[in-house]
Amino acid sequence: MNHMSKISHSVLRRWQNSNSRLTSDDFILPLFISEDEDSKEPIPSMPDMLRIGVNELYEYILPLSKIGLKSVLLFGVLNSDCSKDETGAPADDQVGPVVKAIILLKEQFPQLLICCDVCLCEYTSHGHCGILNSDGTINNAASIRRISEVACTYAKAGAHVVAPSDMMDNRIGAIKTALKLMGDNKTCIMSYSSKFSSSMYGPFRDACKSGPQFGDRKTYQLPLGSSQLGQLTTERDIEEGADIVMVKPGMFYLDVVNAIKSRHPNHLLAVYQVSGDYVMVHDYATKSGNFKSIVCESLFSMKRAGADVIISYFTPVVLKWLHENGGILTP
Ligand code: PBG
Ligand code: ZN
Repeated sequence: MNHMSKISHSVLRRWQNSNSRLTSDDFILPLFISEDEDSKEPIPSMPDMLRIGVNELYEYILPLSKIGLKSVLLFGVLNSDCSKDETGAPADDQVGPVVKAIILLKEQFPQLLICCDVCLCEYTSHGHCGILNSDGTINNAASIRRISEVACTYAKAGAHVVAPSDMMDNRIGAIKTALKLMGDNKTCIMSYSSKFSSSMYGPFRDACKSGPQFGDRKTYQLPLGSSQLGQLTTERDIEEGADIVMVKPGMFYLDVVNAIKSRHPNHLLAVYQVSGDYVMVHDYATKSGNFKSIVCESLFSMKRAGADVIISYFTPVVLKWLHENGGILTP
């Protein structure tokens, strides 16, 4: 076993010791990095979230870093569809928004753990997460080859964690092999290992302009009713060498979180409170007049189910509460 990639950063080491309370160690903040370097553009589908350009990153991250931000998950957003093609060429553009953001954040915030979502849907002309055959079905072999190239580019630029979100078969093994071939044994792989074909990704697809142009993602994301498939794909990814596994979406799938944590107690498990979860909780929490309690309750539920790490758009506000609260939030 190669255990180094699991403990290569002090934040990863602290995650190995996680417990059921909320601390700043538990959170990853997703960031939408705009191709427009000066952008600070509100996202209509997601309250309080921005599409942010590399020139605005320092000012945005600095106050969060001062109150305990440990980790970010980067997504690239292109200005227009014109550079998108069948293979998602802009995904590993050396001067694209994600590579630029990795290099800059490493310089500006050397302690920050940098995770990168690895997928093609933000960069393909058809908006699917892989490469297609001429009949519109997924070409699995070509897809995992391409996804491995993108993962290697982010790792080479300095990402600590690469997080493939496509759900193609055997991409974890392919990425692991590709990283090894380039002499890299320290980049951590966080697999979106149980990703369901959910209706809860809508606000995100607006944010990233990444919806499929035709069809849906039902042939590669899991059917909603199947806890057993969620466990099988997680086992597959663990066997192929995933360092962190994930359930997505979070809130409607906590049974799957719990089942996976029970069967794999020694494996780090991340839960993604996705864009639809966020908008839903945000909306009710705002209307209720009890914003903090409701947001915290949604996060406690994920820890209680067995999450070691929570990916959440609420991270900035939770860090503020943690800071005011002596660094810990308990139910
Ligand atoms: C890219 C990706 C998606 C999300 C994370 N990575 C969209 C999708 O699969 O359609 C969704 C995250 C969210 O809704 O917050 N494959
Ligand atoms: Zn995708």
